Amino acid sequence: MFIRAREHSDTVPWVEKYRPSSLKEIQGQGWIVTALQNFAEKKKIPHMIFSGPAGTGKTSCAVAFVNDIFGGKLSSDSILELNASDSVRMDTVRNEIKAFSSSKSIISDSDALKFIILDEADNIPKDPQHALRRIIEKSPPNVRFILMCNYENQLIDPILSRCALFRFILLPKTTILEKLKKIAKKEKLKLPDNTFEVLYLISKGDLRKAINFLQIFSQIETDDLSGLYQIAGYVSPTVFLEFIKSIKKSDFNHSVQIFSQDPFFAGRNFLYQLLDWVLSEPSLSEKILPNILEGIAEIDFRLTMGSDRDLQLESLVALLCEVVKES
Ligand SMILES: Nc1ncnc2c1ncn2[C@@H]1O[C@H](COP(=O)(O)OP(=O)(O)OP(=O)(O)O)[C@@H](O)[C@H]1O
Ligand SMILES: [Mg+2]
Repeated sequence: MFIRAREHSDTVPWVEKYRPSSLKEIQGQGWIVTALQNFAEKKKIPHMIFSGPAGTGKTSCAVAFVNDIFGGKLSSDSILELNASDSVRMDTVRNEIKAFSSSKSIISDSDALKFIILDEADNIPKDPQHALRRIIEKSPPNVRFILMCNYENQLIDPILSRCALFRFILLPKTTILEKLKKIAKKEKLKLPDNTFEVLYLISKGDLRKAINFLQIFSQIETDDLSGLYQIAGYVSPTVFLEFIKSIKKSDFNHSVQIFSQDPFFAGRNFLYQLLDWVLSEPSLSEKILPNILEGIAEIDFRLTMGSDRDLQLESLVALLCEVVKES
């Protein structure tokens, strides 16, 4: 996939079109990039784990790193991509890895480094993880594993202790805005004011999300930013403020009706909007704050478990109206 993506830069999604091809192009992630650049330069490379939230550059760093090592001449002889779902049958993975590590490249010598990139490693069940650990241990000296995951605590200790762990963080606003502005310039986009701020707000440090929303929004050709909120599944700020006003009056019926003005929003996104407001609203006393936060956390859990959005939000509205009335 990585080898093919740039060959069709007009048809691939922007997240692929603008994926960094060298570590120099990776933004943010501080010392991780420096450490990888040193590894690449000295060709002294351990097995590695890249862990952290989605869209923060784990896959991009792995691709850029391997690309830098091979001077931009990435070939299928030197990189094997696997996914956790492939590992359901560890025997197949073992054979695939064996065939890959013993294959001889026509462009490099047999001792040349080879990389196995295993995505979503935290989704591999514990037993196959033990098998994977043996595979890593028995791999030829020129083979390096780069495991990627969102939660490293889902990996077994013997794997963690055999790899250098790099923890990626959510990208800060300046980094997200910088990348979005570069893309907008290259694509010659004309966007309404504040588009980039809103993109940051709705992507929350996930650059993939931000780029995808930018690409979709650019197709709509509108000056109305509420369309961007809608695309991302958030209620527009106007609707949200009306909701807050209604809650402050403890008006349950009207608060619930407001949701129907913007029916496309996702329940959890609304909770995040509410949380941002709760944490920055000076009029909420410390007495009622814990109740509200507990309510939001409870509804968040229920929504993640698949409960009905409207029913859950109605119960949260009831709680908000009650605590506001009592305060
Ligand atoms: N640190 C970064 N520097 C430059 N571009 C980035 C960075 N992080 C993400 N991107 C952009 O966002 C897209 C998605 O990033 P990437 O695939 O590396 O995320 P990831 O951390 O592997 O996410 P996931 O956990 O979902 O696999 C990339 O194609 C790239 O365009
Ligand atoms: Mg990835």
